[in-house]
Amino acid sequence: MENSNSSLNTTNSCSLPKIVVLRWGHRVQRDVRLTTHVALTARALGACSFILADTADRHIEETVTKITQAWGGNFKFDMAVPWKRAVQEWKKHGGIIVHLTAYGENIQTSDVLSRIKAQNKEVMLLVGSQKVPGEFYSEEISDFNVAVGNQPHSECSALALFLDRYFEGQELDQRFEKAKISIVPKERGKEIKTNNVEF
Ligand SMILES: C[S@@+](CC[C@H](N)C(=O)[O-])C[C@H]1O[C@@H](n2cnc3c(N)ncnc32)[C@H](O)[C@@H]1O
Repeated sequence: MENSNSSLNTTNSCSLPKIVVLRWGHRVQRDVRLTTHVALTARALGACSFILADTADRHIEETVTKITQAWGGNFKFDMAVPWKRAVQEWKKHGGIIVHLTAYGENIQTSDVLSRIKAQNKEVMLLVGSQKVPGEFYSEEISDFNVAVGNQPHSECSALALFLDRYFEGQELDQRFEKAKISIVPKERGKEIKTNNVEF
């Protein structure tokens, strides 16, 4: 789908199957750090792009953009897109919606993950912050409501665990193209490689 009125990224420049994360309910006064962590988790663990729905937050955009420029990859950051429009466009494009919620089908004790994978479609993951609108649970919005355990915890941990299970760990071995900085894994100490850039 290419819609000239849309800022949504629907082309796949990811090395892994495409997942887009939509963060709903960001509160500018109190969620800056957590929303930034949700976006960085999405990037590091294999999602292609991130939508900060309904709200603009230049500070978060700047942080995520700087990280991507330094550490590489094609991660895209969008903001102020109305959540319902993002969902409708995604569905029109043929993608499915997975809502992460403690009330959903348990990712460990049900077959929900294999049903999602069997669809073989691109996935938009909805994560909340404050209590989400009731319609998020409905068939009109979410194709699947998935619980990462049925205890409430955090959007960050739910997202990380979902992505790791979905990608079966392969996301931890991704290459980030055009990285200016990267870590050389070591048993002890810290080693980084830089591409002649000062940090
Ligand atoms: C702090 S929780 C909000 C809990 C809130 N009381 C509610 O009614 O959803 C923020 C977000 O984290 C995610 N989340 C928290 N626990 C989860 C779980 N066990 N499984 C999946 N997602 C979870 C959901 O996306 C939720 O909207």
